[in-house]
Amino acid sequence: MRMVDLIEKKRDGQVLTDEEIQFIISGYTKGDIPDYQMSAFLMTVFYKDMTDEEITTLTLAMANSGEMIDLSSIKGIKVDKHSTGGVGDTTTLILAPLVASVGVSVAKMSGRGLGYTGGTIDKLEAIPGFHVELPDEEFIRLVNESNVAVIGQSGDLAPADKKLYALRDVTATVDSIPLIASSIMSKKIAAGADAIVLDVTTGEGAFMKNIDEARRLAETMVRIGRLANRQTMAVISDMSQPLGEAIGNSLEVVEAIETLQGKGPEDLMEMCYILGSQMVVLAKKADTLEEARAMLKDALETGKALAKFREMISNQGGDASIIDQPESLLTAKYQIELPAKTSGVVQKIVANEVGIAAMILGAGRATKDDSIDHAVGIKLHKKVGMPVESGDSLLTIYSNSDSIEDVKELLYKNIEIGSFATEPELIHDIITA
Ligand code: URA
Ligand code: CA
Repeated sequence: MRMVDLIEKKRDGQVLTDEEIQFIISGYTKGDIPDYQMSAFLMTVFYKDMTDEEITTLTLAMANSGEMIDLSSIKGIKVDKHSTGGVGDTTTLILAPLVASVGVSVAKMSGRGLGYTGGTIDKLEAIPGFHVELPDEEFIRLVNESNVAVIGQSGDLAPADKKLYALRDVTATVDSIPLIASSIMSKKIAAGADAIVLDVTTGEGAFMKNIDEARRLAETMVRIGRLANRQTMAVISDMSQPLGEAIGNSLEVVEAIETLQGKGPEDLMEMCYILGSQMVVLAKKADTLEEARAMLKDALETGKALAKFREMISNQGGDASIIDQPESLLTAKYQIELPAKTSGVVQKIVANEVGIAAMILGAGRATKDDSIDHAVGIKLHKKVGMPVESGDSLLTIYSNSDSIEDVKELLYKNIEIGSFATEPELIHDIITA
């Protein structure tokens, strides 16, 4: 087989065979196929698309390019959850202990931030002492004993994806549904889950800027999941404004604790109930979504969910006293209010720009090698649809520098106050097999 013939075949809009796709992925992972041929191939996929069967073969070939985690020694159905990315998305910190507290096994491998703000692993590292790197056996032991462990993705998980993502990033081929779907699903499949709940975000803070694209991505991933024998469903959620109120690593840990105490922001709480109920049903711990939601609500109200978060933190070496003193995490030198310049109703809070503001403060990485300042970030006091009076604080900036005029200006430019607003729907659609 020659790579040039396969590029030509896809260029002419033909369907590749399983053997051909496996040849491309194993050749590229080993370094036999050079970047220039792979770049040309990615561009043909961008323009000519792939069938569901091709995408599934591609996904499985990428999953098989490295370590396949075997979770079979954990009893029960292992459910994973994945979000395609957002700003201030604190859900995993809340969902892992919440669903574990009703008996679902959560063996979660998470990533660091790809975009502007920290990923789940960065947020967990805001907890003093918390270990995100555990040997596989220890990870499995914790899930068996305690139903929950959240660790960083191992270096050898889907190495084909790591190499391909870096190449896509510099060849204008990130925005392709078959490539995004195979990238995400290859990592989920290699991480060993039996069932997968996908949160496909849409809006200005997300990969998919409009609902139609988000729906196509969601449907594609759900079909791949089914073809790969993993029960998969997707929720299409709104990310036009940040989720919840906190954006920034320590601030989001505090927000997670407050939410597990039943005092969290309404949109974030609702998102956790929606995704959590789906996880509980896929894990066969409840027959209906209503029953699942009632179980989760009970776990929250009785303190079981918060106790599980405390246990998860201790199990992984973290300082669990933060559960009782969450404010001890908020160590930024300055807390600076941003007063509204006019009165009216909040019409828009542009999620990705607020994410960039948090990144400039140090909450995220501009380049992959930057380090993160866990203490800094943004706490919103007003969200879309809320009335404001001139002079009201729109948000508090947590900063370790007091010269942040650029951040303030960026935030002012991206928070619109007008005479009326429609609150965005939290969930646009649910896609099941
Ligand atoms: N997230 C991923 O993991 N891969 C993509 O291609 C896009 C988003
Ligand atoms: Ca948040």
